[in-house]
Amino acid sequence: MLNIINFPVLDSTNKYALENLKNLPDRTVITCEEQTGGRGRLQRKWLSPPQVNIYCSLVLKNLTEKPAMLTIIAALAVLETLRKYNLAPQLKWPNDVLVGGKKICGILAETKPDGLVLGIGVNVNTPPEILQQIEKPATSLLAETGQIVNKPKVLTELLESFFVFYDHVLSRGFAYIAQIWQNELQIIDKKVRVKTVQKEFEGTVSQIDADGALIIQTLTGLEKVLAGDVYVV
Ligand code: BTN
Repeated sequence: MLNIINFPVLDSTNKYALENLKNLPDRTVITCEEQTGGRGRLQRKWLSPPQVNIYCSLVLKNLTEKPAMLTIIAALAVLETLRKYNLAPQLKWPNDVLVGGKKICGILAETKPDGLVLGIGVNVNTPPEILQQIEKPATSLLAETGQIVNKPKVLTELLESFFVFYDHVLSRGFAYIAQIWQNELQIIDKKVRVKTVQKEFEGTVSQIDADGALIIQTLTGLEKVLAGDVYVV
């Protein structure tokens, strides 16, 4: 049984879960209806208007895998959930979930010695006028299906899917999930342009290593990319 704690408003579900990590049991799920300080990766903000979207943070203890692996499991669970609504989501390395090239979900893993907090935000019923306020192209289930979608149902489907993958990894290891992830990414042998904080370059993706990093063949040798923006050219 999942222990879901829902709040009307939080600054950030991740922040709340991190601050209370010691006292929250493994697999507690913190959700809220609105975030006033929703946070994204790379110090970005995550727009979190009231009522319409999923903002949740999973408290995971007894970890066997690295944070990056948990974000992969979350991304796969999001893909599986969105397909139930007849959408055709794509995965963009490392774990952005896009529909029609627009972002529909964000995943942010944050760790402390007591465990890991896995934040997932899904744009469910965000109306187009709010999507336009987001800096990068964004979409929602409402925008894609033309219908208001049952948010609690999406959350239940997402959590069920996540914990099926998660339990599989705990009992049988990460290899099977890594294979599904690589197939979803469809990036091996593709020519890409990479932007990291340090530099920008082009090359061809030769493999994804055990850490989930991209190994890229450039004219001057192999480059390993663990974080950054990668565009297929
Ligand atoms: C990204 O930049 O793509 C990650 C966005 C993660 C947003 C979610 S919403 C629930 C949880 N609480 C937060 O403050 N952030 C994550």
